[in-house]
Order: sequence, then structure tokens, then C-alpha cells
Amino acid sequence: SVNMLSAVVVTFASLGSLLSLGCFCSEFPPDFKFGVSTASYQVEGAWNESGKGENIWDHLSHFRNDLIFDRSTGDVACDSYHKTKEDVALLKSLGVDYYRFSLSWSRILPSGFANNINDDGIRYYNELIDELLANGIEPFVTLYHWDLPQPLQEIGGWPNPLLADIFAEYATIAFKSFGAKVKHWQTFNEPLQVCHEGYGIANKAPAYTSDGVAPYMCSTTLLRAHGKTYRIYQDKYKSTQNGLVGITLDSSWFEAQTQKDSDSAKRVLRMGLGWFANPIFSESGDYPQVMKEVISKASAEEGFSKSRLPSFTAEEIEMIRGSADFLGLNHYTTRLVTDGAAKGISRPSYYFDIGAEARVDEAWESSAASWLKVVPWGLRKLLNFIKEEYGNPDVVIAENGYAGEYEEFTQDCRRIHYHNKYLEQVLLAITEDKCNVKAYTAWSFLDNFEWLRGYSERFGLIHIDFENPNRTRTPKHSSKVFTNIIKTRKIDW
Ligand code: NOJ
Repeated sequence: SVNMLSAVVVTFASLGSLLSLGCFCSEFPPDFKFGVSTASYQVEGAWNESGKGENIWDHLSHFRNDLIFDRSTGDVACDSYHKTKEDVALLKSLGVDYYRFSLSWSRILPSGFANNINDDGIRYYNELIDELLANGIEPFVTLYHWDLPQPLQEIGGWPNPLLADIFAEYATIAFKSFGAKVKHWQTFNEPLQVCHEGYGIANKAPAYTSDGVAPYMCSTTLLRAHGKTYRIYQDKYKSTQNGLVGITLDSSWFEAQTQKDSDSAKRVLRMGLGWFANPIFSESGDYPQVMKEVISKASAEEGFSKSRLPSFTAEEIEMIRGSADFLGLNHYTTRLVTDGAAKGISRPSYYFDIGAEARVDEAWESSAASWLKVVPWGLRKLLNFIKEEYGNPDVVIAENGYAGEYEEFTQDCRRIHYHNKYLEQVLLAITEDKCNVKAYTAWSFLDNFEWLRGYSERFGLIHIDFENPNRTRTPKHSSKVFTNIIKTRKIDW
């Protein structure tokens, strides 16, 4: 009965918004595309099969398992490595235009280095790509979704500047092996999380905490790696393979709590999203001005001989500026910003350097993830910020989705509500605000391994029974609603 009640509440909420808008019947433009997404470590399993090397998530889940909420690992996950045909058949029945997935670097290059290619890794991804194409689904491939080969972590991971070249060699192998068939690439998924959470606050592998140095060394390597990879594609592969190469950045919308916090809210966006967006998508080709100023001042006060934020050479700036054909955007939620100086936030939080605090409003509609509140209007504001700040680039929404706790009906109702409400804001951003949004990707295709939350938070349109060795897949009602949206090109109220 609690379930029924929530279902009724959600239905009424959707009805209410429908009425208040009159009839909201705009359609998605004819060339607008829909897809679903996963990432290698979160779904593949087969962690040590057929020559795959160890990566930092294998390592963390095996040796620091206490960091994972339900003490789980991705050893088997959704077992997608063994279920290529079944998964692609499901994708086909969803009716998606494309499937966004990532390559496991250590499945292709077990040590991380390009001298030793694992043939089975190449075979596996070729089979997946071929099966997708045979079913009319485009592969949309991420090169790096957080699973760094462990041997590369042992030489320091992303703060080691040498990784820029090492990554570019891996990327080159991917272009050579799959580029005849893959026309959409993303170099990195959510570099902010890789650097800030991985090397700043220990919330992602390799789970280091630091004093505000390592995250910026990480980002500098990563931007060099990205720029280099983009140029390699342009110089060597573009003319024959003719694909697009982008990067996927994550950002919440940051709303000022009160008028006096609005400078802080802008700064959070400029130093959060802008940390990676500014070098690539603005004319400067460099870290945001405000970020350079703030960190250089703080570094001097802390007794550093130079800024904790490394600088790029003129040549690197040339290489990084404009190095993306589209901006992939992962967006889930909104946060309220208050001026941090007054609150005394401290290291290792990145917000310490930004000088502001950002948290969710507990009054907003919740999900199973504490950080994820349902705030659809934030997406439209963020898309407009991107349009103004970075010259209206082509945006692919590469992830957007809802965390449910159980596979229960109520949770899925909320998921349906979430996608409908967020998609409505995407439509408004396109039709009313002329933002160049080209595609929408639901996170996720399958329930999967949600990093430090293990299997306790489910984002999938398809339910997975993780108790069952077969990892039985069952489409949720939200998958039918999504299919209907793709078919009718209208939101399915
Ligand atoms: C972003 C990440 O790219 C993805 O791996 C993760 O599962 C979702 N957010 C949900 O937290």
C-alpha cells in the first residue's frame, strides 16, 4: 500500500505538470538520438579471464573491500562479457539509436603499456561492435571510464605526466582496431571524478586523499592525454575513419542559496565544470582565469614556491584548445551553494579551493543515492550555462538517470517520472533556448556495480538479479516508457 501510495503521488505529480504546461506536445527534432549507457568495470565481470590484467577497481575491491558499502566487487557484475548476444538483443528491443559503453584498458593491454596486446580483448570488443552494427545500433565508445591498469597506478597513476603518452598509445590501438566501425569516441568519462575523487577525497579508486596537489597534477596529465589523442585522430585517422571525438564531463547545476551567494555559485561552475571545459571549449585553451588566480593565491599563502595548479606550455594550449567535436555531459542533480569562506570548509575538499560549499536541499524529491535529488529545472539552467559560457557547442547528454534502492514498482515509477521530467527540460532547452543538444543517454542500460556503493543503488532500465548466477535480466516498466519516447519522439506522460 505504501507502494501504491507513492505510485499515485508520482502519477499526480506528472499529471499536475502536464496540466500546468497546457499540452506539452513538442517533439524531439528528427536528428535527435537516444541511447543507453554502461561502463566496462560496472557490467563486464570476467575480471581475470582471457588474459585481462588487473585494474585499479579490481585492486580496490579485492584489497580495500571495506571501502565498498556492501563489500561487493565487480568480479562478475552483470557478466556482460559472456552475454554479448543477449545484451544486444535487449538493446535492440529497447529501440535505441546507440549504445554507450567503455573499453577496459587492461582487457586490451594487460600491463597498460602498448607493447603487449591481448588478442582476446580485441576479439571481445570486435564481437560486441559487430553485433551492435548487425542490429542497427551505433557503438558510442568511451576509452576511459575509470579502470586504470594497476601497473600504471603503481608508477603514480594520473598525476604522473608520463601517462599522457601512455594513454595516447592505448587510444591509438583502439582507433586502429575499431575505428573502421566506431564513429563516436569519448576519451574520458568524468575527469573531475577521476582527479578530485580518485586523488583528492578518496571516493573513487585509487582512493587517495591529498593536500590539493595531486588532483591538479592528475587533471594536467589528463588534459594533455586528451589533447594528444584528439590530434592523433585528426592527423592519422580522421580522413579514413571520419568519426567524431569528444570528452564527457560531469556537472550538477549549482544554484545560489541566496542572492549573496550568486558569485560563489558561478565560481563553482567555472572551477568545477570549467576545470576541464574551459581548456577544451573556450578560446583560452587553458584553465579558467578564476581558478588560476584562486589557487595561485592560496598556494602562496600555504608556503608553496609556485602554484599547486601546474601550467600548460603554449604548445599544449594550442593542442588542447578546441580538441573536441562535442561535449558529452553527465548530469543528475542540483546543489545549493553558499559562500564557503564563512563555513570554514577544509582540505581535502575541492570546495576549499573554490571557497564555497555546495549541498543538496533535503526538501527536494529524493532517490536511493544521498547525493541525487530530483531537480529537473537544473538541467535546463546548466544547458544554458554551457551555451553562454562555451559558445553553444554540440552537447550529447551522455548520462542522466535515477537511483532506486529496490527493484520495486515504486522505485521504477520514480525512475519514469525522473526521465520524463528531465527530458521535458531538454526539450525546452532545445526548442525555447536554442541549446545545441543532440542526444540523450539514459544511465543505465542495466543495474550494475555502482562503485563504492556496490550493488545497493540501481540505475538500470533493465533489472539484474545479482543473486542468480545467470544474472537474469528483466526489463522494468521504465524501459517500455523509454522505448515509447524513442518511437513517438514525444515524452510519454
Ligand atoms: C556517473 C558515472 O559515469 C557512472 O559510472 C555512475 O554509475 C553514474 N554516474 C551514477 O552514479
